[in-house]
Amino acid sequence: MEIRTVGVCGAGAMGTGIAHTAAMAGFRVILRDIELPRVEKALATMDGLMQRAISKGKLTDEERLATLGRISPTTDLEAFAEADFVIEAIFEDLRLKKDLFVALDRICRTEVVLASNTSSMSITEIAAATGRPEQVVGMHFFNPAQVMRLVEVIHGYQSSDAAVQTAMDLASRMGKTAVRVRKDTPGFVVNRILMPMMVEAIKVVEEGIATPEEVDTAITLGLNHPMGPFTLLDFTGVDICYNVVEYFHSEFRQPQYAPPLLMKQMVRAGRLGRKAGKGFLGEYPKA
Ligand SMILES: NC(=O)c1ccc[n+]([C@@H]2O[C@H](COP(=O)([O-])OP(=O)(O)OC[C@H]3O[C@@H](n4cnc5c(N)ncnc54)[C@H](O)[C@@H]3O)[C@@H](O)[C@H]2O)c1
Repeated sequence: MEIRTVGVCGAGAMGTGIAHTAAMAGFRVILRDIELPRVEKALATMDGLMQRAISKGKLTDEERLATLGRISPTTDLEAFAEADFVIEAIFEDLRLKKDLFVALDRICRTEVVLASNTSSMSITEIAAATGRPEQVVGMHFFNPAQVMRLVEVIHGYQSSDAAVQTAMDLASRMGKTAVRVRKDTPGFVVNRILMPMMVEAIKVVEEGIATPEEVDTAITLGLNHPMGPFTLLDFTGVDICYNVVEYFHSEFRQPQYAPPLLMKQMVRAGRLGRKAGKGFLGEYPKA
């Protein structure tokens, strides 16, 4: 089956980026959220980005209009009956995701592959809620999805090779490089490697070896990373990273995943980075 129509469920940060990327690549897109204003906001975000690209001479107005014209906004889940492939990007809540996949399993044609963009949940468990676990895969985009070139495509325990290949091919048609993740394990590849680095960076600060700013300078210049671990921690949210590290620790039961005391204290103190105010960088309590 040739994929022409991609269903995207959830029009938040990730759903917006994924739907936009698919529409730019020429797919018809069905974009669904629980409330219409959320989908309208997603379309306005895409429009704003494309207006900016036009002003820089990177896009024409015809392309902008054609891209928006390929997206059908909806709150109706039944609209996915027309989708050839569905990508779920709703809240990171296992109960919600399972309920949604049960509904998608009922609505979508049997040959349709259902993908989850989850960052941390088990693809195997989501798939097991459906009657088509071999047709369920992980498809992990990075934020912002329009810009970031990687998609991790994850084999659930029961995913078929054909379903994984379908997702890899779709990612490639969307202009992304797909990396196959052969086992459904916490953090997949990127976050599995990133999180211990963040933990180690916090330990370096905790032990008084360097300040967060000094660690960031060392990593950006020494490893050529575009941003240091503390910039990334503050950008993502210290609490979100803390939850992921706690999750890894509970799953792997290995000491290298134990969140450092300093990380816990930052969360308890409400120093979460992001929009929530101060994080590790800036006026960090040094002693
Ligand atoms: N934000 C990131 O950096 C990032 C990166 C990779 C993956 N992810 C994953 O992507 C998913 C979405 O994350 P996000 O940051 O876009 O979240 P978000 O909170 O920005 O958006 C989630 C959207 O899903 C909608 N929603 C909730 N239940 C729904 C349902 N049943 N049907 C349709 N829409 C529903 C909400 O109204 C909201 O608009 C999560 O699983 C997250 O772990 C996030």
